[in-house]
Amino acid sequence: MVGTTTTRLLKSGIRHLIAVLRLYDPPTFRHSQRVAFLACSTGRWLGWDPGSLRLLAVAGLLHDVGKLAVDREILHKPGRLTGEEWQAIRRHPATGAQLVKRVTGSSRIAAWVRSHHERWDGAGYPDGLAGPAIPLGSRVLAVADAFDAMVVGRPYHRRRITVEAALEEIEHQAGRQFDPEVARAFIAMMNARAVLRTGPGGR
Ligand SMILES: [Fe+2]
Repeated sequence: MVGTTTTRLLKSGIRHLIAVLRLYDPPTFRHSQRVAFLACSTGRWLGWDPGSLRLLAVAGLLHDVGKLAVDREILHKPGRLTGEEWQAIRRHPATGAQLVKRVTGSSRIAAWVRSHHERWDGAGYPDGLAGPAIPLGSRVLAVADAFDAMVVGRPYHRRRITVEAALEEIEHQAGRQFDPEVARAFIAMMNARAVLRTGPGGR
């Protein structure tokens, strides 16, 4: 009985946090929905179990929730950010992880959120983790996140590019920015979806 109540409270806490993000910054909310979908599709492709996929869905929806602590004017500033503004943006994975830990109680989801801007080559943030030291869920989120940023575009990011160009960039960054195995799975999953959409050889 207690377990059921706790689960219900947890789910309502997660839903509320997502609702706050949706009110505060609708573009980040929509981006998070797409990242959750893409990350779960990749996880399914990699053979993840249903329980882990559910956690990955929550992590995808909440991976940028730390942006609640970043000024909306910075989030939507067109053009170059100052050093201070970048610092504010770069704090969002750690802030998000703290929030997620408090609301979900899950260290696993919190770790995935904290490390979603780490890079396979160790040049990411906030901890400069490299290779397999980066939690696998974060490596999946990183590819989904970057893909969405490339095809949809962001004010402080580069301009939007086509799906094909984004997949090429992900291939190029395999072993640099991304876990090569995850990058390959993402590309294969996306190509399979394209075949399903258009039929073999179709466009
Ligand atoms: Fe992020």
